[in-house]
Amino acid sequence: MSAAPVSVAFTAPADPRLLGRDVRRIAFDAATLNARVRELGAEITSAYPDGDLLVLGLLKGSFVFLADLVREIRRPLHVDFLVASSYGEATVSSGNVKLVYDPETVLEGKHILLVEDIVDSGKTLNTLMGLLGQRSPKSIEICALLHKRIARDLPHPVRFVGFDAPNEFLVGYGLDHAENFRHLPYVASLE
Ligand code: IMP
Ligand code: MG
Repeated sequence: MSAAPVSVAFTAPADPRLLGRDVRRIAFDAATLNARVRELGAEITSAYPDGDLLVLGLLKGSFVFLADLVREIRRPLHVDFLVASSYGEATVSSGNVKLVYDPETVLEGKHILLVEDIVDSGKTLNTLMGLLGQRSPKSIEICALLHKRIARDLPHPVRFVGFDAPNEFLVGYGLDHAENFRHLPYVASLE
């Protein structure tokens, strides 16, 4: 009697960080993110030869990216944060951007580098750039890890971009869905 054919179904071991939920695919793995963050740090270092540099992280989504990025910038700098809110628990921007925490640091006369996790509709950035621009910074630029390239109206282009992102809902490396998944060391597309 011959043995029945064995069917081998390979399933990757589940990531215990995922709360039993599945991600569709990994869009950017940790090694890819780390290599690009090093390059961005070098680009930013050479873009600011002089003057005070304030790296302003947009919470909460930028916290992982910002922590890695500032360690790759080889010049003096200060770090502060601001908090804006637009999504709530939805996956589509409400377009109603609120400033929930305003940085205490003086912006006047400084180079401001606004660090964002992902540019989607661009509404968050457009609102913030308007507000921050009124505080007489020496310059103001945006650095975003991911850019979906779907924003129709971006008066201030994003100067430093990590990666063009697929038009999917992404989580990990700071990005959340309803506050979950921020701690993934990679960026994944949510099912
Ligand atoms: P925007 O105002 O539509 O450009 O949205 C920007 C903010 O929405 C980002 O800072 C993120 O916090 C959030 N966001 C946009 N797209 C995604 C996504 O794919 N995953 C997680 N958060 C997102
Ligand atoms: Mg968010």
